[in-house]
Amino acid sequence: MSAPAPLSDLHPDWLERGYQHIWMPYTQMQTAPIPKAVTSTEGTRIKLADGGELIDGCASWWAACHGYNHPHIRETMIKQLEAMPHVMLAGLANEPAFTLSARLAELTPGDLNRVFYSESGSVSVELALKMAAQYWFNQGETKRTKFICFRGGYHGDTFATMSLCDPEDGFHAAFAGVVPHQMIADLPVNDETEQALVRLLEEQGEHCAAVVVEPLVQGAGGMLFHDEEVLRRLRRLCDAHGMLLIFDEIFVGLGRLGSMFACERADVVPDIMTLSKTITGGTIPLAATIATDRLFEGFLSDKLEHCLMHGPTFTGNALACSAANASLDLFEREPRLEQVMTIEAHLTQALEPCRDVPGVQDVRARGDIGAVQLDIRSFEELQWMRARFVDLGCWIRPFGNVAYLTPAYTINEEDLTRLTDAICKVVPEWSAEFGRG
Ligand SMILES: Cc1ncc(COP(=O)(O)O)c(C=O)c1O
Repeated sequence: MSAPAPLSDLHPDWLERGYQHIWMPYTQMQTAPIPKAVTSTEGTRIKLADGGELIDGCASWWAACHGYNHPHIRETMIKQLEAMPHVMLAGLANEPAFTLSARLAELTPGDLNRVFYSESGSVSVELALKMAAQYWFNQGETKRTKFICFRGGYHGDTFATMSLCDPEDGFHAAFAGVVPHQMIADLPVNDETEQALVRLLEEQGEHCAAVVVEPLVQGAGGMLFHDEEVLRRLRRLCDAHGMLLIFDEIFVGLGRLGSMFACERADVVPDIMTLSKTITGGTIPLAATIATDRLFEGFLSDKLEHCLMHGPTFTGNALACSAANASLDLFEREPRLEQVMTIEAHLTQALEPCRDVPGVQDVRARGDIGAVQLDIRSFEELQWMRARFVDLGCWIRPFGNVAYLTPAYTINEEDLTRLTDAICKVVPEWSAEFGRG
């Protein structure tokens, strides 16, 4: 295999030097286009070193929900940085982490009252698995070593979380023989799939610690929607079979669907919930794994080994927690959830014309998510579309078989229209270029 192509003189020095050494995420370094050099961000705009500007259609992997550089988050972080960016959490308390825990407990439904912090979504899901497994272990149930998860699901890139992802269509099929084997089921969207899940619970339930699901939308699986009844079924089945239920709200939580949490829409409380991405308004890494009182109480004991055996170096990082507190302030002070519903109305109407384009399989919108599902047959087609969107001044990154938008909740009408217009222009071009007509 040959080395990545050398860069032209048009790129800044730092990109030139660093490109020979950096390893980019989910990127075939031999064939991928050179990344765009970014100098700053503001609102929904990404400013480029070549003087250009892009409207961000995916809010930096679904995270920058208040737009970039919101002054309230920035000022809060600057103050915290000056006082104390970090101090270890074991045995020491910092105000932002403790305040954030109380606020999250107040905000989340039911008795989801205990918050454990980590630095990425994947690790927060790992922690949810660990909590569930150790909860049973502490009660002497040592056979519950597996998890039930769903086709179309995505929960992260670490080994345990890869094992929860869709084993065939997901990003991690190549690791099938390496990651632990889990029980992969179809979401119980109808009687047939519900009965199949019941059989799985009856046959394998005693070996399983928890059911893990992305509630209402499977994001990285292709922006696949299911309805609230699925979550109610899962809760009923888990209760009937004495199983824990984990909701991975890393994508859908904190406003994405027009409510603070997806589970509220179904009036269902999971035993454990994970949050990340938008938790700091997309400014700095942080994730939270939130457990119910019942689950937490399963760790209370006079035996040290019954405590939660977990403690990453940067858990409860004060700077990240200050950003999260500022982000929650914005949900309180500004009409975020209404803004999301306005975006949903816009996406629903503006993407509809794509439905008639040959090669388009579906068009759907929910909350801040608009997706056009396409008969994409090669990675080259995705690359071609991505480049066309950049030509039009838009940062839209189709993956798998969807071209999608998940803009900042604060995006204005004009920028949102530029994004939806770009999709409505590029989708027919793709259809003609790749012969789907
Ligand atoms: C539902 C869900 N869970 C987990 C993750 C992993 O989060 P991270 O990329 O922060 O590790 C993601 C990331 O996209 C996600 O969408």
